[in-house]
Amino acid sequence: MRAALCPGSFDPPTNGHIDVIERAARHFDEVVAAVIANPSKEPLFSLDQRKSVLTEALAHIDNVSVDSFDGLLVDFAHSRNVTVIVKGLRAVSDYEYELQMAQMNSALLHGLDTLFLPSTPEWSFLSSSLVKQVAKYGGGVDGLVPANVAKALKEHFAGS
Ligand code: PNS
Repeated sequence: MRAALCPGSFDPPTNGHIDVIERAARHFDEVVAAVIANPSKEPLFSLDQRKSVLTEALAHIDNVSVDSFDGLLVDFAHSRNVTVIVKGLRAVSDYEYELQMAQMNSALLHGLDTLFLPSTPEWSFLSSSLVKQVAKYGGGVDGLVPANVAKALKEHFAGS
């Protein structure tokens, strides 16, 4: 059984995240979208909200599940017996940090490899931070994030 992890903050998930996970799911028997419980930046959405919108947005893919982790990604990978992490790369600017993380993870857990998927050009400008900023000031994010995420953003900012 070949399994891969797609880790992230998913605060919130964008169409770019969904695209990378869908593509990973075509190459692996099982893909676990791993939501970090406590990201370095204070998240807009709680862990439960991030997991729940991601689970709904990935419901159409049979071999994908959503889980969460805290602490080191390598510990989670080890606990799930997974040796491959799949990450999307939007631009060269992503590469430097992603390379550093990939090498650190591999130094911490021998045999853990990171595979990079170039983002689909349609989504290469997308980031969770930009989506939050646009939604905060009332801009439309339909078509950039799954419909349930757009709804959750609208509800969040309507109530704040
Ligand atoms: O969506 P993001 O914010 O780019 O995801 C980053 C994430 C969660 C994948 C990364 O911060 C991570 O793996 N954090 C876990 C902590 C860890 O293992 N740090 C050492 C790896 S260099």
